[in-house]
Amino acid sequence: MHVLILGGTAEARRLAELLAADALPGLRVTTSLAGRVTAPRLPPGEVRLGGFGGAEGLAAWLVEHAVDALVDATHPFAADISRNAAKAADGTGVPLLALRRPGWVPVAGDSWHEAGSLAEAAALLPALGRRVFLTTGRTGLAAFADLDHLWFLVRSVEAPGTPAPSRIEVLLDRGPFTLAGERELLDRHRIDVLVTKDSGGAATAPKLTAARAAGLPVVVVRRPPVPAGVRIVADPEQALVRLRALGGRRAFPDAGRA
Ligand SMILES: NC(=O)c1ccc[n+]([C@@H]2O[C@H](COP(=O)([O-])OP(=O)(O)OC[C@H]3O[C@@H](n4cnc5c(N)ncnc54)[C@H](OP(=O)(O)O)[C@@H]3O)[C@@H](O)[C@H]2O)c1
Repeated sequence: MHVLILGGTAEARRLAELLAADALPGLRVTTSLAGRVTAPRLPPGEVRLGGFGGAEGLAAWLVEHAVDALVDATHPFAADISRNAAKAADGTGVPLLALRRPGWVPVAGDSWHEAGSLAEAAALLPALGRRVFLTTGRTGLAAFADLDHLWFLVRSVEAPGTPAPSRIEVLLDRGPFTLAGERELLDRHRIDVLVTKDSGGAATAPKLTAARAAGLPVVVVRRPPVPAGVRIVADPEQALVRLRALGGRRAFPDAGRA
């Protein structure tokens, strides 16, 4: 059985580790990474790098490499590859499972402002603050480029390109982050508003706790939907159960797309 994991997340790495530890006889696991990060954290098993060339390219790869199960364990905001995975699974009949960590939920004391897109987030900012901690990643900075009167602390794994806001300080860093570290960052840079995607997960959640403690507003960009009909599991352990159940049957028993 050959499992292709579309990766780029801690959950994808964890699933590859679980499958390696499971040591099912005859199991082959390949993780696919987009190749955007210079020194990615690599999972066990085989790794391939770079795009497939759209849904058609992915479908061709599935057939050529005799893939029996496809797991879309990409980041909740990586919408294009998830759409392509759904199309390629439909076209080839390869069972597809989406591994999506749950989104964050506001708690008492939070001051969240939901946005449907980065552009909507940018439109909300002038009314909320002047010194912005922007944690939505290096791509998409163009949405904030016209906000000349605001100052931005941008945290990303790789250096951002242009267009970007004119008043910007870049902090190259990769989670997990600590609550103490996030509080210190907000204080040191006199941040008065935080912008985040609803990425979910524990590794980057301390910024939300720090913002709550400091009484800061948070602009939260909502997730794009998972393509219709795709079965979703919330963690790598559940994905492992599904893959075990798939075994040699080549179909998830109750999957919409099998
Ligand atoms: N978006 C985020 O906020 C975010 C955050 C952390 C990590 N990531 C990870 O970074 C990668 C890129 O994210 P994105 O938002 O740029 O994705 P995207 O917009 O959904 O994908 C753009 C294109 O990149 C290629 N691609 C994306 N993920 C791939 C993968 N795992 N393996 C092979 N090709 C892949 C595909 O190219 P082709 O059409 O040529 O196949 C896809 O059409 C993803 O793997 C994601 O898990 C994203």
